[in-house]
Amino acid sequence: MKKILVTGGAGFIGSNFINYILSNRKDIFIVNLDKLTYAGNLQNLKDVEQNPNYTFVKGDIVNDELVSYLFQKYEITHVINFAAESHVDRSILGSEIFFRTNVLGTNVLLENAKRFGVEKFIQISTDEVYGSLGPEGQFEETTTLQPNSPYAASKAAADMMALAFHHTYQVPVVITRCSNNYGPYQFPEKLIPLMIINSLNNKKLPVYGDGMNVRDWIYVIDHNKAVELVLDKGKVGEVYNVGANTEKPNIEIVKLLLKHTGKTEELIEYVKDRPGHDRRYAIDSTKIKNELGWVAHHSFESAIQDTIKWYIDHQKWWKEIISGDYQNYYQLQYSSHS
Ligand code: NAD
Ligand code: TYD
Repeated sequence: MKKILVTGGAGFIGSNFINYILSNRKDIFIVNLDKLTYAGNLQNLKDVEQNPNYTFVKGDIVNDELVSYLFQKYEITHVINFAAESHVDRSILGSEIFFRTNVLGTNVLLENAKRFGVEKFIQISTDEVYGSLGPEGQFEETTTLQPNSPYAASKAAADMMALAFHHTYQVPVVITRCSNNYGPYQFPEKLIPLMIINSLNNKKLPVYGDGMNVRDWIYVIDHNKAVELVLDKGKVGEVYNVGANTEKPNIEIVKLLLKHTGKTEELIEYVKDRPGHDRRYAIDSTKIKNELGWVAHHSFESAIQDTIKWYIDHQKWWKEIISGDYQNYYQLQYSSHS
């Protein structure tokens, strides 16, 4: 039995991971440690609440005493660190919490992995650590790290610390660097859910700059299958890029979402660009394909329609979110972009 400390399991990717893994595997026990920030939502985990192979702990990964207690109490054998402050725009509004959670928090987890010993420590990172691409080329695992936003810088710092713990103390670290995810339960501050919900609400769709920034999209389940493979077969000390070769300019995504929600392009509003906005991301996942046999099973065309349908069918989920503190964030963020 793998006894896995999953951090940030009430967020978008972490909750999809827990739901997926517990419905497919009987050899895994999960302790989900989540601080339940604005982005954490236990509604995402309703289906696993009663699962005997699952337990939830509300707490902060920066809290060394709590983390060390959990390692001992549950005899943790693996760590998957999803917990993070994850939104670039919020990191531009204020960077401190990004440093605290993403850097210090990862450090606390690494220290405990070193102290108690684990079989594997998976650091969930991002392609944003590589910086921005011009019109050609893709990020490879060997690409120099050149993070541009405070968010990306904090994730790069965590990656470096994780690799240093492997190099210095032989902590069995593996890093995944994935491209932009979409799918159910994504907090509506990120491009795709924000645009779907605004469209359903007949609100303006705020496109930054000229709308020609490019992101490389992957369905969240394909990302989580890669994490599962890394858990089972990933080689320690290695970095694996994960991406589905689906580059799209933002404006193309926005127009597609409008079409599928039956709205006109009159809702599009070009707004002031994000400061330091990375132009293009594109990821080369040859290594995880060749070495671990990973493939993306979902095409963008069908998974984006499933995602839109999910938001249409789960209005209660997002209406609760957007009726709360979200309004203050939206006001602060988008008044500075007008
Ligand atoms: P999210 O913001 O939806 O969820 C983050 C979760 O972490 C929330 O449940 C939150 O409550 C929890 N959390 C935050 N601070 C914490 C703390 N100090 N202690 C414990 N829990 C804390 O993020 P996400 O989109 O699910 O991203 C998960 C991970 O994947 C992050 O590490 C992110 O950098 C990485 N990633 C995300 C994407 C993407 O497209 N969303 C792409 C590549 C990598
Ligand atoms: P986002 O979902 O924030 O992911 P990231 O910045 O981590 O890639 O943004 C994806 C792209 O969409 C990015 O180029 C910024 C752009 N964007 C907008 O044009 N308008 C918005 O309101 C948001 C949230 C993002």
